Amino acid sequence: MTSKCLVIGHRGAKAYVAENTLESIQKALDFNVDGIEIDVHCCASGELVVFHDFTLDRMTNGNGKLEEYTLSELKDFLVDGQYKIPTLEEVIQLIDRKSLLNIELKGKHTAEATCLTIQDYVDHKGWAYTDFLVSSFDYHELEDAFKTNRHIPLGVLTNDNMDEALAVAETIRAQAINPNFKIVNRDNVKLAQDKNYNVNVWTVNDAADIKRMKAYGVHAIISDTPDKV
Ligand code: G3P
Ligand code: MG
Repeated sequence: MTSKCLVIGHRGAKAYVAENTLESIQKALDFNVDGIEIDVHCCASGELVVFHDFTLDRMTNGNGKLEEYTLSELKDFLVDGQYKIPTLEEVIQLIDRKSLLNIELKGKHTAEATCLTIQDYVDHKGWAYTDFLVSSFDYHELEDAFKTNRHIPLGVLTNDNMDEALAVAETIRAQAINPNFKIVNRDNVKLAQDKNYNVNVWTVNDAADIKRMKAYGVHAIISDTPDKV
């Protein structure tokens, strides 16, 4: 039996609205996505903010390291000339359980605060752990997440090494392997599935690649153009 392949908007709906903004996330929700992927960092005043890069230069009118700015300083910068950098809490409130939220731990020391935020939404605000997936390329952050709260679904990101990702997944009882779609083939998807991991591939935008990933039976496709998946 084949199950439906889930559609996850990458950094919101990156192809249409500036990545990792509330407006981009709203665009993805308007497409009725099953999930939304975002990246988080910790800023100088301690809040978790949603942003991909370690520096402000590419996406904003600011420059330098994001982690050196407080939240109120970050709020003065404009993303792509018009949008604000959102906090993780603002994103959670916007999504309001309308889709899965895949939080990628991008910055250092983001695991514990992210997990405590999730726990708060589960314990007090009507969310379920299954509404979240926490993923990272940084396996120390994933270990911290596992130590903080073992109920939170975890995903092991990999750009180039499925075997290593599978080994890490075992140690943190991960739910998913999230590989670059370019290293995925029928055999390694099956291997991961036989070990009961979901396989969530990124970043798949081309129609032929989308078709191939669906034929492999991946659990979810993370795309800049979720409306095309
Ligand atoms: O989480 C999937 C994908 O976002 C990983 O790469 O660089 O786009 O964060 P990146
Ligand atoms: Mg990401």
